[in-house]
Amino acid sequence: MSSDPIDGKSGGRAALAPAIPGWAAPLRLTVNGTAHTVRSSPETPLLYVLRDELQLHGPRFGCGLGQCGACTVHLGGVAVRSCSIPVSAVGDQPVTTLEGLGSPDHPHPVQQAFIEEQAMQCGYCINGWIMTAAALLDKTPHPGDAEIRTALSGLICRCGAHMRILRAVRRAAARGG
Ligand code: FES
Ligand code: FES
Repeated sequence: MSSDPIDGKSGGRAALAPAIPGWAAPLRLTVNGTAHTVRSSPETPLLYVLRDELQLHGPRFGCGLGQCGACTVHLGGVAVRSCSIPVSAVGDQPVTTLEGLGSPDHPHPVQQAFIEEQAMQCGYCINGWIMTAAALLDKTPHPGDAEIRTALSGLICRCGAHMRILRAVRRAAARGG
């Protein structure tokens, strides 16, 4: 029996793969510093792969249309909307999710500032704000208020926690990210 190139076991998915319409070779992703082989089809949004296959639930599904920012991750250090990027477009660019930004014991400075400002209500949108602000401060450690507002302008908070969120990002910016 032949060996499965996906999981190394015989008699698995690869034995059936040539007969499945649309089947494609597994994709490799580096997420939060760890290499993964994923089985989703190439056109699957990166968000679905992260949440459903890799069980990384920091990025959220909000609109699914690239308009709210809840699904934001870093791709090669740039904040992007993972609901609108097919997993096949990731290539060898490293992906960072909220889980890779900080930890409960060692939060990222932006996460720490959000905690200190209690900058959330339901919390559903917060992934997008934190990931976007972290990318901004990575590139521009001391942004002015206009730069902060411009960077955050495409994000939506249905709870209206915007003023607390702005205070948190300003707090992190004052510390240089
Ligand atoms: S869920 Fe991706 S931008 Fe809204
Ligand atoms: S805190 Fe609830 S949507 Fe933003």
